[in-house]
Amino acid sequence: MNETLKNIVKQQFKQRFKSSPMLVFSPGRINLLGEHTDYNQGFVFPAAIDKGIVMALGKTDEATSALVALDKNETYRFSVDQVEPSELGGWENYLLGVVAEVQKQRRINSNFKVVFAGTIPFGAGLSSSAALENALALGLNLLFDLGIPKRELIRISQRAEHNFVGVKCGIMDQYASMFGKRNQAMLLDCKSLQAQYFSLNLPTYTFVLLNTHVKHSLGDSAYNQRREACESVAAALGTASLRDVSLDMLERVQGELPSNFVQKAEYVVEENARTAQAAQALLAKDYEGFGQLMFATHKGLSEKYEVSCDELDFLVEEAEKFNGVLGARMMGAGFGGCTLNLVHKEVKEDFIVALSQAYQKRFQVALSAYTVQLCEGTRLLDNK
Ligand code: GLA
Repeated sequence: MNETLKNIVKQQFKQRFKSSPMLVFSPGRINLLGEHTDYNQGFVFPAAIDKGIVMALGKTDEATSALVALDKNETYRFSVDQVEPSELGGWENYLLGVVAEVQKQRRINSNFKVVFAGTIPFGAGLSSSAALENALALGLNLLFDLGIPKRELIRISQRAEHNFVGVKCGIMDQYASMFGKRNQAMLLDCKSLQAQYFSLNLPTYTFVLLNTHVKHSLGDSAYNQRREACESVAAALGTASLRDVSLDMLERVQGELPSNFVQKAEYVVEENARTAQAAQALLAKDYEGFGQLMFATHKGLSEKYEVSCDELDFLVEEAEKFNGVLGARMMGAGFGGCTLNLVHKEVKEDFIVALSQAYQKRFQVALSAYTVQLCEGTRLLDNK
């Protein structure tokens, strides 16, 4: 967590609203493996990171609530008695969605003020949206003493995204952001919502994120279409989700459903198996094996699930050619954002330079590289 950011957010709140706020930090996430498996009740392997959102909150007697996004220098006003999606269709809907979901359960009995800022690059696939939702969900819970358990708060965050943003996301991002642990990744079973934590102190390797800085616009609708395709296959097989489906079972519906639906389900079945294998590889310190699974995931996401793009494919191909890289893949929903690379520490800097040059040459876009620390999930900060 960034102390400077905390102080800026706090000072800005005090200046604007002449009172002392409650402060919350909520992290973004990476995902080691298990992509597009969460909404199929499968396995994912995420971790909360030290990039996140600091939010200041306080109650007010005024007739309106105010949400201030410092990074954008924008303010949105509304009343807790009448919460509707905003037509601006921006960041405010993630927050309004959370308020509406909380209001469905217990009453927030006064208006409130919020100021926030963050260090998660937008559109990078590092879940700035879940961080934002969770920050407010936990913040309101504490501010109004609502007593909602954290496991319910993440459902509130998820429904906010479904109902106010229109993305029918799974539970991975909200879970990872809320329940992250320092230096640990979590193998999460999205059916039972049980997580097993794995220490991630790699001896000679490190994870590097490369941000393509592209976000192709078809992302949200393509995401919802993928989810619908998976649900149709599960329904045709008479199962609640693809979680309990095998490749043999998929054979049965070949011909009955559009072939690209079956192909997508095939990817999900394979990715679930890969995620369990990845956890085993990590336990056995088989980093090469882990890296191979990352490449296989990328191939599946690109060729079968069709959520990659030229920029992501290019970076993964270049990474595969680079000596000292064990694995690489696109991360998150797709159509842009970051690749995740497992790289030998000794070649990390050379790798970043080489890929930045190649990317610039091919797409005339500057690449950004990040290494991240794994950290605690959404939490109250002291107000010192
Ligand atoms: C987005 C969604 C998650 C998950 C990933 C893909 O980040 O919010 O629920 O589906 O895409 O794995």
